[in-house]
Amino acid sequence: MEAFRWFVAALCAAALAGLVSIIFVLVWVLHYREGLAWDGGSAEFNWHPVLMVIGFIFLQGIAIIIYRLPWTWQCSKLTMKFIHAGLNLLAFILAVVSLVAVFDYHNAASIPNMYSLHSWLGLVAVILYCLQLVLGVGMYLIPITPVSWRAAFMPLHVYGGLLLFASVIAVALMGITEKLIFAQKYSSSPPEAIFVNVLGLLLVVFGALILWIATRTSWKRPSDQILHTLHTNGDCEDNSKVGPAMSQLSDGTDAGTFGDVRKRNNKLDDQDN
Ligand code: HEM
Ligand code: HEM
Repeated sequence: MEAFRWFVAALCAAALAGLVSIIFVLVWVLHYREGLAWDGGSAEFNWHPVLMVIGFIFLQGIAIIIYRLPWTWQCSKLTMKFIHAGLNLLAFILAVVSLVAVFDYHNAASIPNMYSLHSWLGLVAVILYCLQLVLGVGMYLIPITPVSWRAAFMPLHVYGGLLLFASVIAVALMGITEKLIFAQKYSSSPPEAIFVNVLGLLLVVFGALILWIATRTSWKRPSDQILHTLHTNGDCEDNSKVGPAMSQLSDGTDAGTFGDVRKRNNKLDDQDN
């Protein structure tokens, strides 16, 4: 049970850092800046950081660790794939709307587009994210894709997803710094600067926690075959069935893992991608 408690602690900390980041970005644009509107002005630009933090950072982070939530292990793998893909799709849509807002604002105010490193890396991240989505659907949702392809592509999918997530946080930090410098025009305005620097720190903490959770092999979703042996599988139908599965998974002598099911699980992982 020790491993489960650590997992819940990491998850709560990540959720807290993510939700406080969202509150911070909203307070930033609503209190310190011009608010939110769709009028070609600064208030339209403000949708850019808000939607990037909510969609491209927070939702993407949740999508990445969704398979890790032990209370979803009773759900079929297909259900979880739809949730993972759906959250990633929503994150992508919000990122695109956020880009429309900033391009629209630039065009209305005759400000050039794509001049900064932030904008270059940001656009590359959005394009690669779209590619990751398309390949993810092609590989893991289309039933005819051979199982051997799925297994072979998985390391690239996981690496690509984690790299994109980390890059997006770095891009956001560059954007925050840029905006603060533009807005302050190098004059000193400590309250806003301090507030926004805390937002940057929170995003780094959120990213670090999500990456930690997503890279613990001991917290990985057991393969569906293992779950089948632990309980009669259903589509998220009966909570009582998770009890035995969870306790078996956390009974292992290795205190850092959810049990020795993990070892058997590794052999089967490739079969149910
Ligand atoms: C502009 C992407 C987050 C501030 C841009 C542009 C892109 C982009 C592609 C170019 C738009 C144009 O040239 O018309 C991203 C991505 C983010 C992100 C992928 C993911 C997190 C943020 C955040 C802020 C921000 C959190 C904080 C305020 C800016 C500013 C510009 C801008 C000030 C206009 C100046 C420039 O083009 O560099 N962003 N952005 N961005 N972004 Fe972001
Ligand atoms: C796993 C990222 C889209 C299917 C993962 C993981 C990451 C990730 C980081 C590792 C999670 C873990 O180890 O628990 C992304 C990103 C996407 C995306 C950033 C969008 C840009 C998709 C799509 C599908 C998909 C559209 C289609 C269903 C899967 C599957 C796994 C996975 C089957 C393996 C889960 C497991 O075996 O526990 N993804 N993914 N992904 N993803 Fe995606």
